Amino acid sequence: KPYIVVLAGGIGTKFWPHSRNNFPKQFLDLLGTGRTLLQTTYDRFVKLSSPDRFVVVTNHNYVDIVKEQLPELGDDQILSEPLRRNTATCIAYASYVIRKRDEAARVIVTPSDHLILHEVAFQDTIALALSEAEKDHHLVTIGIKPNRPDTAYGYIQYMDGHEEVKKVKTFTEKPDVTLAKTFLESGDFVWNSGVFVWKNQSIIRAFEKHMPEIAEVFEEGIDFYATSKEQEFVKRAYSLVKNVTIDLGIMEKSDDVYLILGDFGWSDLGSWMSIHKLKNRDKDNNVVDANAMLYDTTNSYIKVSPQKLVVVHGLDNYLINESENVLLICKLDAEKKFKEFVADAKNKG
Ligand code: GDD
Ligand code: MG
Repeated sequence: KPYIVVLAGGIGTKFWPHSRNNFPKQFLDLLGTGRTLLQTTYDRFVKLSSPDRFVVVTNHNYVDIVKEQLPELGDDQILSEPLRRNTATCIAYASYVIRKRDEAARVIVTPSDHLILHEVAFQDTIALALSEAEKDHHLVTIGIKPNRPDTAYGYIQYMDGHEEVKKVKTFTEKPDVTLAKTFLESGDFVWNSGVFVWKNQSIIRAFEKHMPEIAEVFEEGIDFYATSKEQEFVKRAYSLVKNVTIDLGIMEKSDDVYLILGDFGWSDLGSWMSIHKLKNRDKDNNVVDANAMLYDTTNSYIKVSPQKLVVVHGLDNYLINESENVLLICKLDAEKKFKEFVADAKNKG
């Protein structure tokens, strides 16, 4: 059974004010299913493995949230990060901890904040990825056919052929929009879904080759993992490593990357707009999650606590989102502005 490494330490500013620094997107039930995105991720993968094979990596501030949301996991299955050092670091940490437990581990790495609609198709793709990952050194990614020049994704170019598993030619993390348009038009690029499958030995080898500074640091922790000295070691380790994503640190550099095309109703739920597309809408294409009266209002998303009656007139393409002490009113497609909103709101206290 594969180990499931769940990355659950991101901050996700694009769902502000609903998600907060102290309560990011993966811990919210954004779709209103009764399970948070982290819990949905657990539900999806527990079918492919078992509860004791999960390793959730998260910031120390979120450890209690993870424990509460996933009571199935033991304390030693939640790895606590003292600092934010991005996905290369947290994957390295998890890989070395897993190596101590099990030299021959197979690993699936997954984000904790995505939607997958077609579970069966997803499971088939993962099964194929696991068998491909048996080959020496292979790092397997799952690609999604793009439909717009979105700059929030990694773009993977692959060798054309009839095989189900493609050799990756180039991997470009978050290109600018001109490049993204070129990639989209050329037709031989897909988005990186952020799900990776490999033998633990293969990724450790890749760290040694492409990020030796990280490999060296975590290699030294072997005596400390799963002991009372782990936290102390990890604090030191994190202070020594750079903030780098796995995409830039490994995937862009390695020649051992292979691709499987996935078609399983994937969305990375990157913005309010993407949630709007998935939810039930009224005849004017509004999502109303509030006690509201709407007049001449279209293509909008209104999410306000039900204690308040909301009256809206004459808006098109707006987001109205109330959460705790913030009321946000902006264009529904304003996701590029969110970093600024969050930064400026900090100064307002
Ligand atoms: N533990 C931990 N620590 N988790 C982290 C950290 C960290 O420092 N930083 C991010 N994560 C988690 C996030 O919570 C998320 O589940 C996952 O790692 C991916 O991080 P994001 O910050 O959401 O990355 P992204 O969306 O900008 O880009 C990645 O995903 C895209 C698909 O959604 C890349 O892999 C892209 O290539 C890819 O296209
Ligand atoms: Mg993301």
